[in-house]
Amino acid sequence: MRILIKNGHVIDPKNRRDDKLDIYIENGLIVEIDKDLDYSGGDIEVIDAEGKLVVPGLIDMHCHLREPGYEYKEDIESGTRSAAVGGFTSIACMPNTNPVIDNQAIVEYVKTKAKNVGVVNVYPIGAITKGLKGEELAEIGELKFAGVVAVSDDGKPVMNSSLMRRALQYTNMFDTPVISHCEDLTLVGDGVMNEGYMSTYLGLKGITRAAEDVMVARDIVLSEVTGAPIHIAHVSTAGAVEIIRHAKARGVKVTCETCPHYFTLTDKAVEGYNTAAKMNPPLRTEEDVEAVKEGLKDGTIDVIATDHAPHHIDEKNVEFDKAANGIVGFETALALGITYLVDTGILTMSQLLQKMCVNPANILGLNKGSLGINRPADVIVIDKNEEYIVDINKFQSKSRNSPYHGYTLKGTVHYTIVGGKVIVRQKVLL
Ligand code: DOR
Ligand code: ZN
Repeated sequence: MRILIKNGHVIDPKNRRDDKLDIYIENGLIVEIDKDLDYSGGDIEVIDAEGKLVVPGLIDMHCHLREPGYEYKEDIESGTRSAAVGGFTSIACMPNTNPVIDNQAIVEYVKTKAKNVGVVNVYPIGAITKGLKGEELAEIGELKFAGVVAVSDDGKPVMNSSLMRRALQYTNMFDTPVISHCEDLTLVGDGVMNEGYMSTYLGLKGITRAAEDVMVARDIVLSEVTGAPIHIAHVSTAGAVEIIRHAKARGVKVTCETCPHYFTLTDKAVEGYNTAAKMNPPLRTEEDVEAVKEGLKDGTIDVIATDHAPHHIDEKNVEFDKAANGIVGFETALALGITYLVDTGILTMSQLLQKMCVNPANILGLNKGSLGINRPADVIVIDKNEEYIVDINKFQSKSRNSPYHGYTLKGTVHYTIVGGKVIVRQKVLL
C-alpha cells in the first residue's frame, strides 16, 4: 500500500500549496509532500501526473443515495461508485430515504452499509423532524450521538417557523449544523417550474422566486435570534444571494451552497417539456444565473454541492407535471465547475477547490478537504484541460436523469484515491 504521485501540479488551498510537487502515500496516509521525492521498491505504485493537477478529493455536502428504500434509483454501492468517478472522496447523504434517517438505527444502517460496500467516505445527515413530516422534532441528540454530521429535512421545508426556531436552539447545543431546504409551500402552490416567460410559454404552472427568498430571509432571522448557524441548501435565485450577502455583512452565521445546474442552466432548458431539467428549486432565469456566479465570485456562496438526486426513467418519462424533481450530479459537477467557472475566469482553480473541498469540510466539521501530512490520503488526479462529451449511458449511477447529455465539457478525473486506496485508475473505476 505505497503510492508515489510524481510530477503533478499540487493545489491544496487550505495549506496554500500551488506548485509542482510529489506526494508519497503509505498505509493509507499522506507521508510526505515535496519536490522530487525518491521512493522505490517493487510494491510501490508510481503515478505519473505530468501535466495534471493533484488536489484533495472533493467533498459533496448534499446528495441523495436513496438507500434504504429506493434502491431501484440508487444504492450506497452505486452512489459511492458514481461519486468516485466524479472525483468525490467524501459525501454527505440526505435523510429522505424510506425509512427516513431520523433515528439511531437508520444512521447505523447507512454507516455500516457504507463501510461494507461503499468506495468513498459516507456521512449521513439526519432529519430535523420525525419522518420529515414537519410536525415534531426528531431525536437530534440521539442522531448526533449516532454520528450524523448535520440535520436537514431536505426535499421539504420546515414550514412551521416555531419548530424551526426550536430546531436551531436545540442543534446549537450539539454543534450540529442545520441545512435548510428553503421553499415556502404556500407560495409554491402547484407550480412545477420557475414562474416567468417560459412557464407562460409552455403553459406550465410557475413557482415564484419569492418562495425561495422568503424562506431564506426567515431562516436568517431565526439564525440571528437563536445565534445558531444555518446553512442554506441549493441557492438558485438572485434574491436569495442578495439576502445572504447582506446577512453575512451583518455577521449572521449563515453559509450556503449552490449546485452546478444553477450556474449553467436557465429555465429555457425545460423547453420541449424536458423532465431531465426538472428539479427543486427549479431552474431560474439568466439574471439569477448571473447573480449566482457573482455570489460564487465574491464569496457569498461558500459551497458547490451536487444535490445528486437519482430517479428511475419511469419517474421521468411522464408528463412534466408528474415527473420527479432532481438530476444526477456526481459525474458532471467538477467538469461543469471547470468549464463554466474556471475557464471563464469567474473562479481560480484554487477557489473552485475551496468551494468543493475546504468549505464543505469546515461547515460539516470534518477534518478533510486538504492534503495534510499523516492524514488519510483522499487525493484525486485531474486533467483540467481534457475535453469529453457527456454520455449518460456511461454513468456509474443507476440513474440517467441528467440534462447534460451530449455536452462537451472540460475536466476529467484520472485517479481517485480514498484513504490511500486507488478506486479510479487512469479514468477506469476498479
Ligand atoms: O430536485 C430535488 N430532488 N430537490 C430536492 O430538494 C429533493 C431531491 C430529491 O430527493 O429527489
Ligand atoms: Zn433540497
